[in-house]
Amino acid sequence: MQANNHRKTGEGDMTEQTFRALVVREVEKSRFNRSIEERTTADLPAGDVLIRVRYSSLNYKDALSASGNRGVTRTYPHTPGIDAAGIVVQSASPDFQPGQQVLVTGYDLGMNTAGGFGRYIRVPAGWVVKLPDGLSLRESMIYGTAGFTAALSVAELEKGGLTPPAGEVLVTGATGGVGSMAVAILAHIGFSVVALSGKPDAADYLKKLGAAAVLPREEGLDDSSRPLLKGRWAGVVDTVGGAYLATALKATRQRAVVTCCGLVASPTLETTVFPFILRGARLIGIDSASCPYPQRLETWQKIAGPWKLENLDVMAAEITLEDLDGQIEEMLQGRSRGRKIVRMGD
Ligand SMILES: NC(=O)c1ccc[n+]([C@@H]2O[C@H](COP(=O)([O-])OP(=O)(O)OC[C@H]3O[C@@H](n4cnc5c(N)ncnc54)[C@H](OP(=O)(O)O)[C@@H]3O)[C@@H](O)[C@H]2O)c1
Repeated sequence: MQANNHRKTGEGDMTEQTFRALVVREVEKSRFNRSIEERTTADLPAGDVLIRVRYSSLNYKDALSASGNRGVTRTYPHTPGIDAAGIVVQSASPDFQPGQQVLVTGYDLGMNTAGGFGRYIRVPAGWVVKLPDGLSLRESMIYGTAGFTAALSVAELEKGGLTPPAGEVLVTGATGGVGSMAVAILAHIGFSVVALSGKPDAADYLKKLGAAAVLPREEGLDDSSRPLLKGRWAGVVDTVGGAYLATALKATRQRAVVTCCGLVASPTLETTVFPFILRGARLIGIDSASCPYPQRLETWQKIAGPWKLENLDVMAAEITLEDLDGQIEEMLQGRSRGRKIVRMGD
């Protein structure tokens, strides 16, 4: 990840702008408050590129940052939002010109750098991606970090040699942002996807995204002491961690590829070596925030090109800054479904 040592450039080229942003404050020790405040572009960190944000999106990491999780955000007051798509207003980098459509996901955005839940962001040029042909700003935020992470996970399955005839792919946390995207992308490129979900009424939604089958969450949990179960999964995209990931590993087929990106169930993984040494299973970690720039561009090209989904609106709901507070709570309770994109105006 690039360091957050923004260089202040281009000052004075543009008059200061005031704008609205969600601001999280620590009101007393370990008690946090969220409200919409007026900020100015002078409040933003130094950086090469000033961007007027049109859309952001809500990710689990934002919900953690917005509720005072110091593992994500060290210092408050803070504006979360790890995703932003908008228009370049000012640039000290020859790579970007005012008026250009761009997106930023990950790096330090929304963690300790004021993020996309404000109308403006200022970031290093090395974080900025030109909006790929074939995607609108709005569509790019339906994907956002969740879609980007799902795409990185699917790319790892392919790199591991997985093709649709190899068998079923399990997606855990299937109605979540990453889960919905993984189900849809895998189905789009021909995989038979089994979606694991804790939401009993979500079967129609998941089938619309392309799931071939939906399993209730309990079926993804084996608390026996057996080191292996009957091999079922040729691939797994796990977004929840804990015992669900451990169980999925036990039920892998020979040479399965398993990706791991999330911890909503638990960050602890108790497993044995047997899936690895008897079935050759491969467990691959996904870290979208620090994804190297060339791989980042390649992945966005895939998202906008061969992996572009027809049914994006099935999983997307548009919200405003005012709606964020409630949606953050829903997400922390594990009740959110699909993707929430935040319309910032215009
Ligand atoms: N490593 C990376 O680069 C990266 C990038 C993005 C996200 N993530 C991580 O991936 C995870 C998912 O992120 P997201 O944005 O998709 O979050 P999300 O939209 O809130 O989705 C999480 C889903 O997990 C399921 N779930 C919730 N609580 C659970 C529990 N206690 N036990 C089992 N399943 C539970 C729910 O789906 P069902 O009801 O359908 O089961 C929920 O919708 C998070 O941990 C996030 O931090 C990592």
